[in-house]
Amino acid sequence: MSKIKPTYLRCEYLINPLGIDVIKPRLSWVIDSEERNQIQTAYHILVATTEELLKKDEGDLWDTGKVISDQCIQIIYTGQELKSQMICYWKIKVWDKDGTSSDWSPPALWSMGLLQLHDWNAQWIGAPRKIGQWLKRNLPKKYYPLPLLRRTFTTKGNIKRAILYASALGEYILYLNGKRVGDHYLSPEWTDYKKRVQYQTYDVTNLLQNGENVIGAILSDGWYAGNMGPGFPYPKHCVYGIDRRLLLQLIIQLQDGTTLEIKSDQEWRILEDGPIEKADHYMGEIYNATKEQENWDKPSFDDSNWNPVTVDDKVEANLVAQINEPIRIVKEIQPIEVTEPKPGVFIFNMGQNIAGWCKIRLGGSLCNPDATIILRHGEMLQPDGTLYTKNLRKAKATDKYILNGSDEREFHPHFTYHGFQYVEVTGFKEGIIPPLNILTGCVIASDCPVTGSFNSSDPTLNKLWENIIWTQRDNIISVPTDCPQRNERMGWMGDVTAFNQTSMYNMDMAAFYNKWIRDIRDAQPKNGRYPDIVPYAIKKWEPIKLKGAPAWTDCGVMLPWNVYLNYNDKRLLEQHYISAKKLVDFIHKKNPNLIRTKAVGISIGNFGDWLNGNTIKVEGYPKDGASIPKDAFGTAFFFMVSKIVSKMANVLGFDDDSRYYLDLSQQIKNKFNEVFVSEDGIIKGDAQACYALALNFDLLPIKLRPLAVQHLLNAIEKYDGRLSTGFLSTLPMMLELTDSGHNEVAYSLLLSRRFPSWFFEIDQGATTLWERWDSYYPERGFQSTFMTSFNHFAFGAVGEWIYKVILGINLDESAPGYKHIIIKPQPGGTLTWANGHYNSIHGKISTEWKIDGKNFNLQITIPANTSATIHIPTEKLEDILENGNPIQESEDIKFIDFQDNIAQYKIMSGKYQFTSKLPS
Ligand code: BGC
Repeated sequence: MSKIKPTYLRCEYLINPLGIDVIKPRLSWVIDSEERNQIQTAYHILVATTEELLKKDEGDLWDTGKVISDQCIQIIYTGQELKSQMICYWKIKVWDKDGTSSDWSPPALWSMGLLQLHDWNAQWIGAPRKIGQWLKRNLPKKYYPLPLLRRTFTTKGNIKRAILYASALGEYILYLNGKRVGDHYLSPEWTDYKKRVQYQTYDVTNLLQNGENVIGAILSDGWYAGNMGPGFPYPKHCVYGIDRRLLLQLIIQLQDGTTLEIKSDQEWRILEDGPIEKADHYMGEIYNATKEQENWDKPSFDDSNWNPVTVDDKVEANLVAQINEPIRIVKEIQPIEVTEPKPGVFIFNMGQNIAGWCKIRLGGSLCNPDATIILRHGEMLQPDGTLYTKNLRKAKATDKYILNGSDEREFHPHFTYHGFQYVEVTGFKEGIIPPLNILTGCVIASDCPVTGSFNSSDPTLNKLWENIIWTQRDNIISVPTDCPQRNERMGWMGDVTAFNQTSMYNMDMAAFYNKWIRDIRDAQPKNGRYPDIVPYAIKKWEPIKLKGAPAWTDCGVMLPWNVYLNYNDKRLLEQHYISAKKLVDFIHKKNPNLIRTKAVGISIGNFGDWLNGNTIKVEGYPKDGASIPKDAFGTAFFFMVSKIVSKMANVLGFDDDSRYYLDLSQQIKNKFNEVFVSEDGIIKGDAQACYALALNFDLLPIKLRPLAVQHLLNAIEKYDGRLSTGFLSTLPMMLELTDSGHNEVAYSLLLSRRFPSWFFEIDQGATTLWERWDSYYPERGFQSTFMTSFNHFAFGAVGEWIYKVILGINLDESAPGYKHIIIKPQPGGTLTWANGHYNSIHGKISTEWKIDGKNFNLQITIPANTSATIHIPTEKLEDILENGNPIQESEDIKFIDFQDNIAQYKIMSGKYQFTSKLPS
């Protein structure tokens, strides 16, 4: 038996997913082995309809036999046709480099959802229709209490399995016999409900009992009917609809072989005036305990004074299975301090800017039995220690609990979330100082597994890395949001253009982005011009349109390509190619002379290199000179998306297209040079951003590159060695400084404490990335109240540089999914050591280096079934040792090249330890 083990079996990127609707799902696993040169030479997959069959090594759905292949990701299921509700148990066995087989893996499973419309027997139910609101556009929002819905049913006999499928227009939480179903929040999550509505699948076998059972549901507005949109001055709600609706189908299989189906239908009863009086993502939640219906979600509750539900036959929803990780509470944190800036007003400091809510223990001696306790949330404090909320704009971010008695108990909201570090709590008994431990911060996020880590000799840099992770966590709430606190929280595309690669180092974003890229396609109009926010929460009649801004709209091409590269997700390219091509054709059609000035964002919407130095309002910082002209910016991105579509076509084997778009990109490049670049390499605008983008996108002829690098250095000098770049050019500048041999300049920007910089923010107490370089400036205070968030990920794009340059973990475009890895750590600045890892789809890649005088020590781990090219900095080849022996003596390491004090070798999997002498 081989020592290698196939582990981490996943189907469509998820562990044991329930209710998928992909009829040819893709399987993957990771080979667990630390051995050198270990590869998979063959695999054998078994998929069976029962666990028993699988135990007997029988795959009645699919038995691949021994397949000679090193592929362990994106293996497309081609067994028996998969049908609704099927449960598929699977396991695998692999053969190692010597042809020895592993043991069978432990079993994994996936189950199929309700694949056809006619599989749904359920009806959409809720309260009677609220006709009328539709007609009035700017009607101030009326909040309706959240209804409770319930249904009793009886089961006779032992239950074998019970699977529940549910969805809502709005959001739902379900209870079975008083217990919560699943641990998801804000389900069915956010899509363009007009195009598709997601459903979720739960195994509820253990929640059911023989005899009387009760299923209960609470329905809320959510993204569907709540306040939502980019937050411009008018009130906005009911973007998709008014009437909250529930759809549910519970299929119970009894041991005797019979099936019982409970569904949402006219049998349900409803109480419209439930204890949650109001719930809204921006506004918060009001919970009135005096309206509680004790045991409403358990058997023997008397619901005779409840009403029959309304069955709504008008709903026409395109139901699809949720394909990404659900939103869950992913962390709980404790406050670090409580202060009382005004009598009776308590501020809990969570020590971390988070997205989520608080659970709080109330009652007992702290409150009067009929007290109203109010929690207001904010990211910052005013100078007098009170809560700062102006930057939340119209988001009230307020939760309220109206108590009913003095028993001590816990409260938390269900259908809202806030972006906050500080919580103001009022309503306690006079003279009471609430203890710290009554309150816990619940962090919610789409539960994407963390895949990265970073540590170094510089504590502030480590803090920056943590802040980047936190900012990402706080902003992956079904879609990548710009911020979690103000009345916005939109899927702004440009922010993702900047940050997506960092996000994929930090967490496994494959399923999440597959979902959002589908949303991107759903939002694409016929002409191809993607909107700047996805889902596009803007109605036809609204005066503001957000479409086609360079770098924002272009995310619809750039993101899918990067997702493909990171996970070798070719199916995604197949699904998305036509859509991506449409955008490029649209830009081309509107700008036949190839300079992109037309159809570049409507009304306010041509953002350019957003929030660059020119928007900084700090005494002494230059007012002008930071911005790349919008025509050059747009044209650069036009070039980029054309080039990417050409590459997509190449991967998919569309050779004519590939040539066509490559040719188009070449013409755009020529035009860019003709119009924006002078012979001495000066680019129109002469800002850091101009050179950063032109170099990074490879827009310049080779001979101009060194000149452009020099101009970039000059542009940094003009800012006294500080950066002036915006959302889209900061990371490109860092990467290009390193690539052009000015790694030390990049390090000095990264490690600088002077304003504007990442460390400056941390020195002001930042625990997440700020929207603006000067969101806060000590002598001045806060930036504009209209647009100042402390939780925006775009400037966190520097995380990509940290992984690529400090840890040296790099993708190889020609071997997507990290099948081949480029390891190239480039120490610099004052760092003396760094370590970290990235869990790629092929397994864990880790690096660790240390500088000891002139000695450079490098330890790396390359996952089984992959190979790597490593770059080792050294003065002389002879100085390089591996595991203490001259490197050339190792049979596992093949020399490739030695140039500019960098030695390159090819290795296969395993752990390696190198030492070399750093060049002086
Ligand atoms: C958002 C940004 C977004 C921008 C568009 C802002 O309100 O918060 O992150 O990209 O608008 O310029």
